Amino acid sequence: MGKARALEVERFLAELVDSGYQLTPEAFELVKDLSATMDLEELLRKLMEKYEPKFIGKEDIEKLLKPKKISISVKPEEFKPIGREVEADIKLEKDASRVLKKGFDFAGYFRDRYRKLRKFFEQYFSDITPIGELRSGEQATVVGMVVEKVERKTSILLRLEDPTGFCRVVVMPERASAYANAKEVLLDQVICVQGRTKGDVLFAEEIIFPGIRRVRQGKEDIPDVYAVLISDLHCGSKKFAKELFQRFVLWLNGKWGGKFERRIASKVKYVIIAGDLVDGIGIYPDQKGELEVFSAYEQYRALAGYLEQIPDYIEIVAIPGNHDPVPNVVPQPPIPKKYAEPLLEAREIHLYGNPSQVLIHGRRFLLYHGNALNDVVTQVPDISYSKLNAEMMGRCMAILVRGRHLAPVYGEKTGIFLSPEDPLVVEEEPDVVHMGHIHVRAILSYNGVLLVNSGGWQYRTSYQERMGLIPSVGEAVVLSLRELEPFIMRFGS
Ligand SMILES: [Fe+2]
Repeated sequence: MGKARALEVERFLAELVDSGYQLTPEAFELVKDLSATMDLEELLRKLMEKYEPKFIGKEDIEKLLKPKKISISVKPEEFKPIGREVEADIKLEKDASRVLKKGFDFAGYFRDRYRKLRKFFEQYFSDITPIGELRSGEQATVVGMVVEKVERKTSILLRLEDPTGFCRVVVMPERASAYANAKEVLLDQVICVQGRTKGDVLFAEEIIFPGIRRVRQGKEDIPDVYAVLISDLHCGSKKFAKELFQRFVLWLNGKWGGKFERRIASKVKYVIIAGDLVDGIGIYPDQKGELEVFSAYEQYRALAGYLEQIPDYIEIVAIPGNHDPVPNVVPQPPIPKKYAEPLLEAREIHLYGNPSQVLIHGRRFLLYHGNALNDVVTQVPDISYSKLNAEMMGRCMAILVRGRHLAPVYGEKTGIFLSPEDPLVVEEEPDVVHMGHIHVRAILSYNGVLLVNSGGWQYRTSYQERMGLIPSVGEAVVLSLRELEPFIMRFGS
């Protein structure tokens, strides 16, 4: 603690004691934490107003910290929430952090990835040649993991591995579709290459990804309710867009927006948060200067103040992101109780791991923070942070989903937990894939799968400024579960 803050705490304590109050050691610790973000004179005034001289405990101070309830500006009869009439139907189908086989197994992890992804190609090709059996001058179809990629001026070179060996693949620009796909190939993805061998080189004619396709089922039996997708709140950051998030909460209560917006709000039954609920502590160098709340627990407490105002008939689902206090290695476990306590005390909330697969009225949602989007941005030549608009973000998500793996690249931007099985393969087709992480909102319908990046609730940070990234702030993607039609609600001016 700096000298100025220490002095402020001392003065606070002296005035309190002079007025006949005492502090428990826990309350004293809390005051020290709060001194970073709060005017202690104001706290002193509030304490004296609320309590007669006595022993002040931590809970007494906490009671003063809860944000004021938002005032009601619409008569209750004008807002008839349809969501309240509908029974929730939400099932956790798969939480990648829970299906881990115990232990660390580098070779086993990649073997499992290869085995699971090869199955998709086996549905289409019955003549896959093991790489170890390739002969010169043959037409061949191979399935391998990309262990090396080199872009030259006139060609792209790949090195593929399967359990029987390695081979070199050359992709020439004349093979336009193979060349375009090769540009978007990520390291450690499992792909299929068709081509002709010459010596020990396979000249690619086609490059094929596992791919994904979802045939939309008629779901007339689904109630006419909506899910709202948001992510990257970064509560606790100085840049957290508090006023916009407050508007969001007001809107869910039918107290913000015109008739149209309120009609949409009345149908909301689910709020889904794809990670980075808080800004966290020590996530990047010099983060302290950008924080308003200096402990993760207090950041969740601040967030609880908002979430508790969301009507209780609305189900809230949340997975962690790289800023939440869980190991920054995918899969990430649900936000632990020791931090999430204020949220869980404030209201019911479904905390799942990152990634997780959830069925909502039978619609399959794949919830993923989007950690590996960084690898896509850095590995695909014509994608960069400074050019990242909604269209490009849609493409980034499609590159991951098309490869049916949520974090293929090992050893670069995204930490991966190498267990004996790989739970990051997209084995079942989802209806909706919901990501966040890079704070650029995007919606793309990709072969019948709706890809959503729900942007963020944090104004542009100095880091984003350095990267040239323009974030989307204060937007929510609203999705009718019956039609899966997305709609963007904007809470900024
Ligand atoms: Fe974030």
